[in-house]
Amino acid sequence: MSFRLTLAAVAMTALAGICLSPLAASAQSAEDAVKARIALMDGFDEHAKVLLASSKAGTADAATAKAAEEISAGLKKLIGLFPAGSGSDKFKSRAKPEIWADFAKFEGYAKDTDAAFVAVAAAAKAGDGAGVTAAFTKAAASCNVCHREYRGPRQQ
Ligand code: HEC
Repeated sequence: MSFRLTLAAVAMTALAGICLSPLAASAQSAEDAVKARIALMDGFDEHAKVLLASSKAGTADAATAKAAEEISAGLKKLIGLFPAGSGSDKFKSRAKPEIWADFAKFEGYAKDTDAAFVAVAAAAKAGDGAGVTAAFTKAAASCNVCHREYRGPRQQ
């Protein structure tokens, strides 16, 4: 009898595990996504420092092109790090709920910003210093446009 009970208990546990695991997994991955997107954009800031210096000096070299390409590659991944349910209501995050009200619009901002950084890389590769300055000014503004609309106040 105790054997039968144990079997039943094992079956129940397995069932509970099957039912609960997708929920647990999605909560876990949302938290990971929050961390990953903040880390990714902290990296953008580092590359943007390189680009700001190039922009001021009108430098069009390989390091400038690489910094712009790193940001562009990151922007292609960024959208995938904003799964539904990963907003500031649930996590220590500055992501505003408006992101998920019209996700296509948010995605459009990421694509526009990506295109702006591709233009910075192109100017750098062409050896066009004035072009780097002009393109970076636009690209940096594009980061800010998205922040103004979709990034809330810093969390304590
Ligand atoms: C499509 C919209 C969008 C674009 C484009 C974008 N960001 Fe962000 N960024 C956000 C959001 C939303 C957050 C808040 C994420 C969070 O806290 O979960 C954020 C957070 C950050 C952070 C993390 C620090 C903090 O807590 O605010 C940095 C740094 C940052 N962005 C820099 C940049 C730079 C530099 C660019 C341009 C290369 C850029 N971002 C482009 C939406 C964007």
